[in-house]
Amino acid sequence: MEPPSSPTFSSTFSARRRNYMLSSHRKDGLIAYIKEMLNHSFVLGRPEGYRVTIKEIEDLFDEHYKNPKHSTLKHIVPSMGPTFTPLRLTKAFDMYNKKYAVTSRRFVSPSFNEVRHMLNLAQIMGIGNRLKLISFDGDQTLYADGGNFDRDGELASGMLNLLRGGVYVAVVTAAGYGLDGPKYEVRLEGLLKAIEEAGLDAETAGHLLVLGGSCNYLLRCVLEQGTDKEGLRARLEAVPADEWQNDSIDGPKPLHWPREQTERLMEMAECSFRDSVRDLKLRARIIRKERSVGIIPGGASSVARVAEGHGSKKLKREALDEVVMSAMDRIRCANPKFTIPYWSFNGGRDAWVDAGDKSVGVAALQAWLGIAKDATMHVGDQFLNTGNDVRARNVAPCLWIISPAETAKVLVHVLHECEIERHYTPAHVDRAIKQRPSVVMDVWTGEVVKQA
Ligand code: IMP
Ligand code: MG
Repeated sequence: MEPPSSPTFSSTFSARRRNYMLSSHRKDGLIAYIKEMLNHSFVLGRPEGYRVTIKEIEDLFDEHYKNPKHSTLKHIVPSMGPTFTPLRLTKAFDMYNKKYAVTSRRFVSPSFNEVRHMLNLAQIMGIGNRLKLISFDGDQTLYADGGNFDRDGELASGMLNLLRGGVYVAVVTAAGYGLDGPKYEVRLEGLLKAIEEAGLDAETAGHLLVLGGSCNYLLRCVLEQGTDKEGLRARLEAVPADEWQNDSIDGPKPLHWPREQTERLMEMAECSFRDSVRDLKLRARIIRKERSVGIIPGGASSVARVAEGHGSKKLKREALDEVVMSAMDRIRCANPKFTIPYWSFNGGRDAWVDAGDKSVGVAALQAWLGIAKDATMHVGDQFLNTGNDVRARNVAPCLWIISPAETAKVLVHVLHECEIERHYTPAHVDRAIKQRPSVVMDVWTGEVVKQA
């Protein structure tokens, strides 16, 4: 009998990596650290200790802000990225505790979500009224996953007030439908209707931007004369490449990336997805676009194709994470190496590889509009390692929300800190938004399913 062969370097390495990733890719190092520190006061039954701890963490943030690469905080939380403003953590803690009496609880310690909320507040106060550009993720931040902006008057009024207050509002979404304005209009119909109803002037409406495919397709809101009865219509129109990607602008240039690389990236991503479909027995469908490749539930026909397996209606989170990490691993090891940025993420119901990522998108907007990092904020729902908003952390302060309702809530604080008058109320825009969407579209492919 053959003696068992000793494990190769690559097999032990990948086992180690698998174990490491299993415990780490679903965690946020910073929030876990703060929660753990607060837990000491909870366990000791010393409510007065919370504030002392928070103040010490705020001091660590200050040190990190000045020296992000070699700070104590970086040492304690290696996954910590740069911060672009000081964080007003003690003030945020006081505000939050005043309302929710966290320190009065004897049986339930401060939770992950509470720390997340406090960090959001601290960040909003850290930027204060410097804010000039706010970018929003789409799915699960402005509308439910796979849904459209069609219900939330609270959220729409917050966004209108920001526009009216002189802030650029950008939707930076991974969803990519090329420069096909009407497709993005379907997803943002409620917001566009609210803009029409509110009577924003053309210049202010033009400060609403949509960056699709994470960084690849830029459109802006224009007001057009509709039929006599309709009045002005808010539409989305492509921004010419030589405007935002002009050589004179010192920012990332996704439209100038070598075609050889974007094509090879898509090819490699598709191969990796196909291998995952086979290895993980996925009843899935692969979608290939010019600058992204996706994997989505396979639908009824996939059941006949894959006798045993899962995913026809819903792909398991674990499977999607594995798909994402396998693709990242393969692309990272490509020979020759890719020099263009790319990112793979688990979108909740699907997984994707995109050319570029949201850090490229937000940085390109900052460069084009001449807005500094500390005057920018990105709001999103996917800040774990396999998410897509996490990349924006490299170029802008971020707010981590988990639903459109939370987005609406944080905007109330943003408007307050920016000293922007809340001119539009939800009631102003409710009527426009309650209208039924006129088109139903497959959000993955952009194909129109039903036209009213
Ligand atoms: P986001 O949360 O707004 O960034 O949108 C991400 C979601 O958009 C994904 O989870 C997909 O459901 C959807 N999507 C549609 N087309 C694309 C694409 O081309 N790349 C990535 N995501 C896409
Ligand atoms: Mg999202």
